[in-house]
Amino acid sequence: MLVLGVESSCDECSFAVVQDGRRIISHVIGTQIEAHKPYDGVVPEIASRKHVEMIVPVYRQCMDIAKSEGIEIEDIDGIGVTTHPGLSGSLVVGLTFAKSLAATLELPLVGVNHILAHLYAPQLVDEIEYPYLGLLVSGGHSMIVRAESYDEISVMGASIDDACGEAFDKVAKHYGLGYPGGKVIDDLARKGNPSAFDFPFSNLYKGGHEYDVSYSGLKNAAINQLDIFWDGKSEKSIENICASFERVAIDSLLKKLDKAVHDSGVTRVVAGGGVAANSYLRQSLMARSGLQVSFPPLELCTDNAAMIAGIAYHYLSDGKESPLSIGVMPRVAGFRRI
Ligand code: KG4
Ligand code: ZN
Repeated sequence: MLVLGVESSCDECSFAVVQDGRRIISHVIGTQIEAHKPYDGVVPEIASRKHVEMIVPVYRQCMDIAKSEGIEIEDIDGIGVTTHPGLSGSLVVGLTFAKSLAATLELPLVGVNHILAHLYAPQLVDEIEYPYLGLLVSGGHSMIVRAESYDEISVMGASIDDACGEAFDKVAKHYGLGYPGGKVIDDLARKGNPSAFDFPFSNLYKGGHEYDVSYSGLKNAAINQLDIFWDGKSEKSIENICASFERVAIDSLLKKLDKAVHDSGVTRVVAGGGVAANSYLRQSLMARSGLQVSFPPLELCTDNAAMIAGIAYHYLSDGKESPLSIGVMPRVAGFRRI
Protein backbone atom coordinates (compact mmCIF):
# COMPACT_ATOMS: atom_id res chain seq x y z
CA MET A 1 0.00 0.00 0.00
CA LEU A 2 1.33 3.45 -0.94
CA VAL A 3 0.42 6.26 1.46
CA LEU A 4 0.94 9.99 0.98
CA GLY A 5 1.74 11.73 4.28
CA VAL A 6 1.07 15.41 4.95
CA GLU A 7 2.51 17.27 7.96
CA SER A 8 2.07 20.98 8.75
CA SER A 9 1.57 21.08 12.53
CA CYS A 10 4.18 23.73 13.31
CA ASP A 11 6.88 25.30 11.14
CA GLU A 12 7.74 22.34 8.90
CA CYS A 13 5.80 21.75 5.69
CA SER A 14 6.36 18.16 4.70
CA PHE A 15 5.14 15.47 2.29
CA ALA A 16 6.17 11.85 1.92
CA VAL A 17 5.27 8.73 0.01
CA VAL A 18 5.81 5.59 2.10
CA GLN A 19 5.15 2.00 1.12
CA ASP A 20 3.60 -0.42 3.60
CA GLY A 21 4.39 1.77 6.59
CA ARG A 22 8.16 1.30 6.26
CA ARG A 23 9.78 2.03 2.90
CA ILE A 24 10.29 5.75 2.32
CA ILE A 25 10.00 6.36 -1.42
CA SER A 26 9.95 10.13 -1.36
CA HIS A 27 10.26 12.60 1.51
CA VAL A 28 10.52 16.39 1.44
CA ILE A 29 10.68 18.66 4.51
CA GLY A 30 10.32 22.36 3.79
CA THR A 31 11.53 24.37 6.77
CA GLN A 32 10.47 27.88 7.77
CA ILE A 33 13.30 28.58 10.21
CA GLU A 34 14.52 31.68 8.32
CA ALA A 35 11.03 33.27 8.47
CA HIS A 36 10.85 32.87 12.26
CA LYS A 37 14.49 33.69 13.09
CA PRO A 38 14.00 37.46 13.44
CA TYR A 39 11.44 36.78 16.20
CA ASP A 40 13.56 34.19 18.09
CA GLY A 41 10.70 31.71 17.96
CA VAL A 42 7.83 30.36 15.86
CA VAL A 43 5.18 33.02 15.17
CA PRO A 44 1.90 31.10 14.57
CA GLU A 45 0.46 33.68 12.17
CA ILE A 46 3.62 33.64 10.02
CA ALA A 47 3.73 29.83 10.16
CA SER A 48 0.26 29.42 8.67
CA ARG A 49 0.89 32.00 5.94
CA LYS A 50 4.17 30.28 5.05
CA HIS A 51 2.36 26.94 4.81
CA VAL A 52 -0.05 28.50 2.31
CA GLU A 53 2.95 29.53 0.17
CA MET A 54 4.87 26.28 0.54
CA ILE A 55 2.24 23.56 0.42
CA VAL A 56 1.91 23.16 -3.35
CA PRO A 57 5.64 23.48 -4.18
CA VAL A 58 6.60 20.98 -1.45
CA TYR A 59 3.87 18.56 -2.60
CA ARG A 60 5.10 18.86 -6.21
CA GLN A 61 8.70 18.28 -5.16
CA CYS A 62 7.68 15.16 -3.25
CA MET A 63 5.68 13.78 -6.19
CA ASP A 64 8.55 14.58 -8.61
CA ILE A 65 10.85 12.41 -6.51
CA ALA A 66 8.17 9.68 -6.36
CA LYS A 67 7.84 9.89 -10.15
CA SER A 68 11.56 9.29 -10.54
CA GLU A 69 10.90 6.06 -8.59
CA GLY A 70 8.08 5.18 -11.00
CA ILE A 71 5.19 6.29 -8.77
CA GLU A 72 2.49 8.74 -9.87
CA ILE A 73 -0.29 10.29 -7.77
CA GLU A 74 -2.74 7.78 -9.35
CA ASP A 75 -0.75 4.96 -7.66
CA ILE A 76 -1.37 6.33 -4.16
CA ASP A 77 -3.79 4.21 -2.09
CA GLY A 78 -4.52 6.58 0.79
CA ILE A 79 -3.61 9.82 2.54
CA GLY A 80 -2.50 10.41 6.14
CA VAL A 81 -2.49 13.95 7.53
CA THR A 82 -1.64 15.47 10.91
CA THR A 83 -4.80 16.80 12.53
CA HIS A 84 -3.52 17.21 16.11
CA PRO A 85 -1.85 18.56 18.18
CA GLY A 86 -0.19 21.68 16.77
CA LEU A 87 -0.82 25.27 15.73
CA SER A 88 -4.39 25.42 14.46
CA GLY A 89 -3.74 27.78 11.54
CA SER A 90 -0.85 25.59 10.35
CA LEU A 91 -2.77 22.34 10.78
CA VAL A 92 -5.72 23.72 8.79
CA VAL A 93 -3.54 24.37 5.72
CA GLY A 94 -2.24 20.78 5.54
CA LEU A 95 -5.61 19.26 6.35
CA THR A 96 -7.48 21.31 3.75
CA PHE A 97 -4.92 20.37 1.09
CA ALA A 98 -5.12 16.68 2.07
CA LYS A 99 -8.92 16.72 2.03
CA SER A 100 -9.02 18.34 -1.41
CA LEU A 101 -6.70 15.65 -2.77
CA ALA A 102 -8.67 12.87 -1.09
CA ALA A 103 -11.98 14.23 -2.41
CA THR A 104 -10.68 14.75 -5.94
CA LEU A 105 -8.86 11.42 -6.22
CA GLU A 106 -11.50 9.54 -4.18
CA LEU A 107 -8.88 8.25 -1.76
CA PRO A 108 -9.35 7.25 1.88
CA LEU A 109 -8.05 9.83 4.35
CA VAL A 110 -6.96 9.40 7.96
CA GLY A 111 -6.26 12.18 10.46
CA VAL A 112 -3.22 11.39 12.58
CA ASN A 113 -2.10 12.41 16.06
CA HIS A 114 1.45 13.48 15.33
CA ILE A 115 2.67 12.57 18.82
CA LEU A 116 1.78 8.94 18.06
CA ALA A 117 3.57 9.40 14.74
CA HIS A 118 6.75 10.59 16.54
CA LEU A 119 6.67 7.36 18.52
CA TYR A 120 6.19 5.38 15.32
CA ALA A 121 9.10 7.14 13.53
CA PRO A 122 11.85 4.64 14.56
CA GLN A 123 9.80 1.86 12.96
CA LEU A 124 10.66 3.44 9.59
CA VAL A 125 14.29 2.49 10.19
CA ASP A 126 14.18 -0.69 12.30
CA GLU A 127 11.40 -2.99 13.34
CA ILE A 128 11.08 -2.33 17.07
CA GLU A 129 9.02 -4.67 19.18
CA TYR A 130 6.30 -3.22 21.40
CA PRO A 131 6.06 -2.28 24.22
CA TYR A 132 8.65 0.46 24.42
CA LEU A 133 9.14 3.66 26.36
CA GLY A 134 9.23 6.87 24.39
CA LEU A 135 11.13 9.99 25.39
CA LEU A 136 9.57 12.69 23.30
CA VAL A 137 11.36 16.01 23.70
CA SER A 138 10.71 18.91 21.38
CA GLY A 139 9.91 22.62 21.43
CA GLY A 140 6.28 21.78 22.24
CA HIS A 141 6.39 18.53 24.22
CA SER A 142 8.43 16.77 26.90
CA MET A 143 6.90 13.42 27.61
CA ILE A 144 7.76 9.99 28.87
CA VAL A 145 5.25 7.54 27.44
CA ARG A 146 4.71 3.83 27.17
CA ALA A 147 3.78 2.62 23.68
CA GLU A 148 1.87 -0.67 23.50
CA SER A 149 1.18 -0.49 19.77
CA TYR A 150 1.11 2.13 17.02
CA ASP A 151 -2.03 3.80 18.40
CA GLU A 152 -2.00 2.87 22.05
CA ILE A 153 0.11 4.95 24.39
CA SER A 154 -0.10 6.00 28.01
CA VAL A 155 1.54 9.20 29.13
CA MET A 156 3.64 8.43 32.21
CA GLY A 157 5.10 11.89 32.66
CA ALA A 158 5.30 15.32 31.09
CA SER A 159 6.58 18.80 31.80
CA ILE A 160 4.23 20.70 34.05
CA ASP A 161 5.30 24.01 32.48
CA ASP A 162 7.74 24.71 29.61
CA ALA A 163 8.71 21.95 27.20
CA CYS A 164 12.40 21.01 27.30
CA GLY A 165 13.21 22.55 23.89
CA GLU A 166 11.24 25.65 24.83
CA ALA A 167 13.50 26.09 27.88
CA PHE A 168 16.60 25.79 25.63
CA ASP A 169 15.08 28.35 23.25
CA LYS A 170 14.17 30.80 26.03
CA VAL A 171 17.61 30.66 27.65
CA ALA A 172 19.22 31.09 24.21
CA LYS A 173 16.92 34.04 23.48
CA HIS A 174 17.84 35.72 26.77
CA TYR A 175 21.57 35.49 25.98
CA GLY A 176 21.05 36.57 22.36
CA LEU A 177 22.26 33.25 20.93
CA GLY A 178 19.69 33.08 18.10
CA TYR A 179 16.89 30.69 17.14
CA PRO A 180 16.47 27.75 17.43
CA GLY A 181 18.53 27.85 20.58
CA GLY A 182 18.95 24.15 21.32
CA LYS A 183 21.69 23.51 18.77
CA VAL A 184 23.62 26.68 19.73
CA ILE A 185 23.49 25.80 23.45
CA ASP A 186 24.57 22.24 22.61
CA ASP A 187 27.61 23.55 20.66
CA LEU A 188 28.61 26.09 23.34
CA ALA A 189 28.10 23.52 26.11
CA ARG A 190 30.74 21.28 24.53
CA LYS A 191 33.33 23.97 25.41
CA GLY A 192 32.06 24.66 28.93
CA ASN A 193 32.27 23.30 32.46
CA PRO A 194 28.95 21.59 33.36
CA SER A 195 29.64 22.04 37.09
CA ALA A 196 30.33 25.79 37.00
CA PHE A 197 26.74 26.44 38.14
CA ASP A 198 24.84 24.07 40.38
CA PHE A 199 21.42 24.85 38.91
CA PRO A 200 18.38 23.30 40.65
CA PHE A 201 16.75 20.03 39.62
CA SER A 202 12.96 19.94 39.56
CA ASN A 203 11.86 17.56 42.24
CA LEU A 204 8.32 16.53 41.44
CA TYR A 205 7.52 13.22 43.04
CA LYS A 206 4.43 13.87 45.08
CA GLY A 207 0.78 13.97 43.98
CA GLY A 208 1.07 11.76 40.92
CA HIS A 209 4.09 13.64 39.54
CA GLU A 210 6.50 10.72 39.75
CA TYR A 211 7.62 10.98 36.12
CA ASP A 212 6.94 14.69 35.54
CA VAL A 213 9.51 17.42 35.07
CA SER A 214 9.44 21.20 35.34
CA TYR A 215 11.64 23.73 33.59
CA SER A 216 10.52 27.06 35.02
CA GLY A 217 12.89 26.95 38.03
CA LEU A 218 15.89 25.92 35.93
CA LYS A 219 15.14 28.52 33.27
CA ASN A 220 14.81 31.26 35.88
CA ALA A 221 18.04 30.16 37.57
CA ALA A 222 19.98 30.16 34.29
CA ILE A 223 18.64 33.59 33.37
CA ASN A 224 18.23 35.52 36.64
CA GLN A 225 20.06 33.74 39.43
CA LEU A 226 23.57 32.98 38.18
CA ASP A 227 25.25 34.29 41.35
CA ILE A 228 23.19 32.06 43.63
CA PHE A 229 24.24 28.87 41.83
CA TRP A 230 27.80 29.82 40.81
CA ASP A 231 30.60 27.60 42.20
CA GLY A 232 32.55 30.73 43.09
CA LYS A 233 35.65 29.91 41.03
CA SER A 234 34.73 29.11 37.40
CA GLU A 235 34.37 31.84 34.83
CA LYS A 236 30.81 33.14 34.39
CA SER A 237 31.16 32.50 30.65
CA ILE A 238 28.34 31.68 28.23
CA GLU A 239 29.98 28.28 27.61
CA ASN A 240 29.85 27.46 31.33
CA ILE A 241 26.24 28.68 31.64
CA CYS A 242 25.20 26.54 28.65
CA ALA A 243 27.02 23.42 29.85
CA SER A 244 25.55 23.71 33.37
CA PHE A 245 22.03 24.42 32.06
CA GLU A 246 22.19 21.54 29.58
CA ARG A 247 23.40 19.08 32.23
CA VAL A 248 20.46 19.82 34.54
CA ALA A 249 17.87 20.10 31.72
CA ILE A 250 18.79 16.68 30.34
CA ASP A 251 19.66 14.89 33.61
CA SER A 252 16.29 15.83 35.14
CA LEU A 253 14.55 14.12 32.21
CA LEU A 254 16.82 11.09 32.32
CA LYS A 255 16.32 10.71 36.07
CA LYS A 256 12.57 10.35 35.44
CA LEU A 257 13.18 8.07 32.47
CA ASP A 258 15.39 5.82 34.65
CA LYS A 259 12.54 5.62 37.15
CA ALA A 260 10.04 4.79 34.39
CA VAL A 261 12.33 2.00 33.12
CA HIS A 262 12.80 0.66 36.63
CA ASP A 263 9.09 0.76 37.54
CA SER A 264 7.76 -0.58 34.22
CA GLY A 265 10.46 -3.15 33.54
CA VAL A 266 10.44 -2.00 29.88
CA THR A 267 14.02 -1.59 28.67
CA ARG A 268 13.44 -0.62 25.03
CA VAL A 269 13.60 3.18 24.76
CA VAL A 270 12.91 5.33 21.74
CA ALA A 271 13.91 9.01 21.71
CA GLY A 272 12.30 11.53 19.40
CA GLY A 273 11.69 15.26 18.91
CA GLY A 274 14.21 18.01 18.16
CA VAL A 275 15.94 17.76 21.57
CA ALA A 276 16.76 14.10 20.78
CA ALA A 277 19.52 15.66 18.64
CA ASN A 278 21.25 16.93 21.79
CA SER A 279 24.72 15.41 22.03
CA TYR A 280 24.76 15.19 25.84
CA LEU A 281 21.36 13.45 25.82
CA ARG A 282 22.48 10.99 23.17
CA GLN A 283 25.75 10.18 24.94
CA SER A 284 24.11 9.80 28.33
CA LEU A 285 21.36 7.52 27.02
CA MET A 286 23.70 5.37 24.96
CA ALA A 287 25.97 4.96 27.99
CA ARG A 288 23.20 3.41 30.09
CA SER A 289 23.68 -0.30 30.41
CA GLY A 290 20.75 -2.67 30.06
CA LEU A 291 18.77 -0.35 27.76
CA GLN A 292 18.08 -0.87 24.07
CA VAL A 293 18.01 2.72 22.87
CA SER A 294 16.84 3.81 19.46
CA PHE A 295 17.49 7.26 18.03
CA PRO A 296 15.91 7.72 14.63
CA PRO A 297 17.95 9.90 12.25
CA LEU A 298 17.42 13.59 12.88
CA GLU A 299 15.09 14.16 9.92
CA LEU A 300 12.78 11.53 11.43
CA CYS A 301 13.12 12.98 14.99
CA THR A 302 11.73 16.40 14.09
CA ASP A 303 8.32 16.99 12.48
CA ASN A 304 8.12 15.11 9.19
CA ALA A 305 5.58 13.54 6.85
CA ALA A 306 7.28 10.13 6.57
CA MET A 307 6.20 9.22 10.11
CA ILE A 308 2.65 10.43 9.28
CA ALA A 309 2.47 8.26 6.15
CA GLY A 310 4.05 5.38 8.09
CA ILE A 311 1.50 5.30 10.89
CA ALA A 312 -1.38 6.14 8.51
CA TYR A 313 -0.66 2.87 6.66
CA HIS A 314 -1.62 0.95 9.82
CA TYR A 315 -4.84 2.92 10.37
CA LEU A 316 -5.86 2.50 6.73
CA SER A 317 -4.96 -1.21 6.74
CA ASP A 318 -7.13 -1.60 9.85
CA GLY A 319 -10.00 0.16 8.03
CA LYS A 320 -9.83 3.24 10.27
CA GLU A 321 -10.60 6.08 7.85
CA SER A 322 -11.61 9.60 8.88
CA PRO A 323 -14.64 11.38 7.43
CA LEU A 324 -13.94 14.32 5.13
CA SER A 325 -15.59 16.54 7.74
CA ILE A 326 -12.70 15.93 10.17
CA GLY A 327 -11.26 19.08 11.79
CA VAL A 328 -8.06 20.01 13.63
CA MET A 329 -7.41 19.87 17.37
CA PRO A 330 -4.64 22.22 18.53
CA ARG A 331 -4.32 20.57 21.95
CA VAL A 332 -4.89 17.04 23.09
CA ALA A 333 -6.05 16.32 26.63
CA GLY A 334 -3.50 14.46 28.74
CA PHE A 335 -0.51 15.36 26.58
CA ARG A 336 0.37 18.37 28.63
CA ARG A 337 -0.22 18.47 32.36
CA ILE A 338 -1.57 21.73 33.67
O1 KG4 B 1 10.74 18.53 17.14
P1 KG4 B 1 11.14 19.94 16.78
O2 KG4 B 1 11.91 20.16 15.51
O3 KG4 B 1 9.89 20.88 16.66
C1 KG4 B 1 8.86 20.92 17.58
O4 KG4 B 1 9.03 21.66 18.57
O5 KG4 B 1 7.87 20.19 17.36
O6 KG4 B 1 11.97 20.49 18.03
C2 KG4 B 1 12.51 21.77 18.04
C3 KG4 B 1 13.19 21.98 19.38
C4 KG4 B 1 13.65 23.42 19.57
O7 KG4 B 1 13.23 23.85 20.85
C5 KG4 B 1 15.17 23.31 19.49
O8 KG4 B 1 15.83 24.31 20.23
C6 KG4 B 1 15.42 21.92 20.05
O9 KG4 B 1 14.35 21.14 19.49
N1 KG4 B 1 16.71 21.37 19.62
C7 KG4 B 1 17.70 21.04 20.49
C8 KG4 B 1 18.79 20.60 19.70
N2 KG4 B 1 18.41 20.66 18.39
C9 KG4 B 1 17.13 21.14 18.36
N3 KG4 B 1 17.73 21.09 21.82
C10 KG4 B 1 18.88 20.70 22.43
N4 KG4 B 1 19.98 20.28 21.74
C11 KG4 B 1 19.98 20.21 20.39
N5 KG4 B 1 21.05 19.79 19.74
ZN1 ZN C 1 6.24 17.20 16.62
